[in-house]
Parts: sequence; C-alpha cells; structure tokens
Amino acid sequence: MMHMKLRTFLFIILISCTHFLFGQEQLMTNVYNRETTSLNGYWNYIIDPYENGFYNYRYEPFENQENPGKGAFFTNSKRESKSDLVEYDFDKMDSILVPGDWNTQKENLFYYEGTVWFKKSFNYSKSKNTNRVFVYFEASNYETDVYLNGKKLGKHIGGFTPFNFEITNLLKEKDNFLIVKVDNKRKKDAVPTLNTDWWNYGGITRDVKLIETSETFVEDYFIQLDPNNNNRIMGELTLNGESKKQEKVQISIPELNIVKDFETDKNGSFSIDINSKNIKYWSLEDPYLYNVIIKTEEDKITDQIGFRTITTKGSQILLNEKSVFLKGISIHEESPINKGRGHSIEDAKQLLEWAQDLGCNYVRLAHYPHNEHMVRLADKMGILVWEENPVYWTISWDNEQTYLNAKNQLSEVIDRDKNRASVIIWSMANETPTSDARNAFLTKLSTFTRQKDPTRLISAALEQSDYQGNPLVRTIDDPFAEVVDILSFNQYIGWYDGGVEKCKTISWNIEYDKPVMISEFGAGAKYGLHGEKDTRWNEEYQEYLYEETLKMIDQIDQLKGFSPWILVDFRSPRRVLPEIQDGWNRKGLISEDGKKKKAFFTLKNYYENKTSSNQNKH
Ligand code: GCU
Repeated sequence: MMHMKLRTFLFIILISCTHFLFGQEQLMTNVYNRETTSLNGYWNYIIDPYENGFYNYRYEPFENQENPGKGAFFTNSKRESKSDLVEYDFDKMDSILVPGDWNTQKENLFYYEGTVWFKKSFNYSKSKNTNRVFVYFEASNYETDVYLNGKKLGKHIGGFTPFNFEITNLLKEKDNFLIVKVDNKRKKDAVPTLNTDWWNYGGITRDVKLIETSETFVEDYFIQLDPNNNNRIMGELTLNGESKKQEKVQISIPELNIVKDFETDKNGSFSIDINSKNIKYWSLEDPYLYNVIIKTEEDKITDQIGFRTITTKGSQILLNEKSVFLKGISIHEESPINKGRGHSIEDAKQLLEWAQDLGCNYVRLAHYPHNEHMVRLADKMGILVWEENPVYWTISWDNEQTYLNAKNQLSEVIDRDKNRASVIIWSMANETPTSDARNAFLTKLSTFTRQKDPTRLISAALEQSDYQGNPLVRTIDDPFAEVVDILSFNQYIGWYDGGVEKCKTISWNIEYDKPVMISEFGAGAKYGLHGEKDTRWNEEYQEYLYEETLKMIDQIDQLKGFSPWILVDFRSPRRVLPEIQDGWNRKGLISEDGKKKKAFFTLKNYYENKTSSNQNKH
C-alpha cells in the first residue's frame, strides 16, 4: 500500500510537470458522461497564413506584450471610431462547422496547411455561484492556442487528444468570446513529423464543450481489474478543489452490491481497492459494462466500466485468462459519411459495424488516437482495440521536446481511455528505424506507459527483415522487440516487396516466445477495376494477395492475430496516380463510397472459419 501511495504521489508530480511544459491543465476524466454545454456549430474564422493576428511586424507574439493592442486577433477588437484602425472583423467573416476539418468544408482550404483563427461568442449563466467552469476540446489539429475574452487560457500540442482549461474567473454572463488559433503546419520536430501517408486535416476536429462542476469535483480516476487478481478492482482517484483533502468519496457498483467509502489524502487522492467474487467479466461474447457511481459531498459522476484482464503467457494472448486470436483490421479516422476527419458517433458506428461485418473481434486504430466514440462503442460492441501514439516513421529521436510531446500525447490518450475495457494495447510507434536514440526513446515511452497503466499490453508496429541475410526467411531483428509484450510488425510481401507469387516462397524465423501480430499487410485496388490477378490495382490482385498472405503467415507458430491495411480507402497527399489513386490510398477493402471489394469477402470468409478462442493451430 505504501508503495501504491508513493507511486501515486510521484506520478502526480511527473504528470503536472509535463502538463506545465505544454501549458495545459490536468485532463478531466469521463467528460463523456458529464453534463455539458456544447459549443459546436458555426464559428467565424480568419485564414492567417502569415500569422499576422499573432505576431507584430517584428514577429514578436502580441500575447507576450503588456498591451497587445487591437492588432492581436485574440482581442476580437472592433472599430470604435472613424479614426480607429482595426484590420479584421470576425463577425463579418465566413463561418465553418466545429467539429470538422477545414480541408473538406472549404474548397480553398483543401490543401491549406497553416494558421486559421476561430471565434465563438456565447452567453453563460452558472447554475450555482460557487461552481467552476471549464472549456474542453476533444481534439484540435495540431498546435492550438486558446483565449477567452482577450486572455490566454493556454496552448495544446498534438492533433488527436483532448485538453481542457478552467475559465471560471474569466467567464461573463453575456458576450463571451472564445478565440482559438489552430496551426496544422507540419514540422520536423513535431509528432507526427513532416511526412505521413494520411491527410493532414486541420481545424477544431472534435467537439468543444463547457463543463460546469462543483467547487471540488472528481477530476481523475482509474478503475480497472488487477491483472494478477481478477477478484480485485483497483485504481486511483483524485479530486480537484479547495476541499479535496480528507474528503469522503463513495464508490458504488450497484449490480455487484458494492458501496465503499474512501477518504482522500492531503493531495486529494486515494487508492482504490475493492474485492468481489461475483464479477461478470467483460468479454467478446458478452461485453458486460457495470455502472460505477462516484459520489462526493458536492459531485456525482457515473461511468460504464467493463472488468476484464488482458495478459500474455508465452506466445498466448489471454483475455480473462483464456487464449484469444485477434481477428482485426486497421482503420484511419476518416468519416465514411463526409469523407473528412471523422468525429461523430455515426462515423464510429459505421466503421465498427463494417469491421464486425468483416468478422473482426479487434481493430487497430491507426496511427493516432481516434475519437472517444470509437472506444466507447467498442466497449459496448465487444471489440478489442489497439490505440497508437503518432510516433510515425522517422521523428527527431534526439530532441527532448519531441520526446516530451510524444509522452504528453500518450499520457492524454491513456487518461481519456484508461477505464475502457475494449482498449487492450498501447502502441508506441509505427515503422520507426532502429537506432540507439530511437530505441532509447521508445523504451522510455514504454516505461512511462507501464507505470501509468500496469493493466494493458505494450506494442509497436515494427518492421521485418532478412534472417541471417536470407531474403526468403523473414525475421524480427529489432532491439525494441525485447521491450514489447506483443511482437507486432508490418509486412508488404506481394505489394512493396515483389509480386503475390513471392508469398509462396517465404518462411519465417521469429525467435521470441511472445505473441506475434501482423499490424499491416495489404495491396491497392481500385473498386470496380477487374482483370488478371497479377495486374496491380485490379480487385483480383488484392484478392489474390489476401489469399496467399493468409497462407504465408499461417506458418508463424506464435501468430495471435493481425490487422490488415486497411478497412476503407483513405485520403493521402502521397497517392497521386491518375484514374486510380487521385489522392486516395487504395488499400481499403471498402472504397471511400462504401463499396466492398472482392478481398473484403476473402478476409470475411477466413475470419468466419477462425474461432476467436484459438482452437485452431494458432
Ligand atoms: C505503411 C504505413 C501506412 C501506409 C501504408 C501504405 O506501412 O504504416 O501508414 O499507409 O504502409 O503504404 O499504404
């Protein structure tokens, strides 16, 4: 117990430093279930490629000046007299929908990478004078500066995770103006870095809401099953507020007849330790979610939490101590409905229903945290989830700021989803080149993750290579393979490496007693293009590649699942082949218009004949 308390304390220190570095506050847990006021809808916007609204002509940030003057867009200034010089006016500008990317909403912003300013005016009356109010962004890509009524709230870096700021002392009853500067310029030292094979959608890409809380409220909690004792519910909880110390907190799980009182320590925290022999475990067949109610003197919050253990034993992946085979598919967060950055529950529902129709019990959410609807729905639908940090290809491994940025994004997605039963794997990275700096970077991230969440598995999408110089024998020769719980790699034999026939010549030599997953394989096909199976871009080529790949990887003894690339064709600025790609990566099993290609049925058939519980060879 002492160890748990010390660990909690050290952790709070660590987290607050990281948050401080990125100018934001501790993320609030389970905002999804809190009563909130939405700020979604039309916002006025100003396109500002020269960041004229942020810097003066000496390129000094206005926000660092005592009197920034009317030129600073965050002041939302208006011309007050005929001689007054104000060279912008949000209220006379066009408007754009939030949440949403600007690329697919405005033709002139389709390829735009730079700064756009957003303004939302609103009135707000608190229901109780002592209450506090926060503004919560589910995500905004990439670098976001937020101001309320002319004052800086803070900054967030990273396009795929939530952040919140307290606005209690700045809020007015009437005519509040929230100004948000969003800059999606790609940078070498950023996470991700300059090149990605997905569209760099810019904007306030997910919901924005106001949260009103009591003065002291439940800020953060982690409630999960002890991976080593499935009769024990464990975790931590932290209050925020004046009366957070020695405060009574009751946690109840009515369906388990559990009502337990706890008391916070001087940091407003306590460790959770609840035993029960009657837990109905969350599983693929029965994704059972318990109502968990947390009550304090002033605050009450409810969550739907599934209790399950996820562990490995040798080359087995054990869900509730039973071996499981992960029948998966990779997914990008692109809306099958408006073909831009996905964000809505309808988007999530469509994507996960297609995955279930394919016969999947597992999805790899690539290459960055997707919106919370995806994991909340996966909890309900009984689908296992791999979540990934956007450490993609070759980032700046030696840059400490890049590391802190990657760690902060990972910390935020863990904080958002640590109570989700469906989420079983935290992926540190995708296709990163081995080097001492990279190995150290990823190992440090893994250590951080294991400390923050000891209940889930760690992996990364690695790359395979020749075994002892023999190109026909494939292996994993990567020091980071020692660190991960699940050994996962991408392979494109038959597409980037030879033709489909090559699959028949390949064997494997993977010397790890760990579960092996193939996080990507696939081939491009234009929906409706038919012909020879050895002619690229035909549906028959993709179909043939799936047939031969499934046979080829079946040879891997430790194989415990895979997530082919990819469920749906997706936008990529790297894909410019006319009449075939036209800005789309065509490796989807479904076209961007929702049409299923032949290979969709090849994989569906394979999954229908494969049980989740591993009775087969693997
Ligand atoms: C890579 C990468 C994906 C990319 C895919 C492809 O492996 O991880 O992001 O889209 O291959 O080339 O289609």
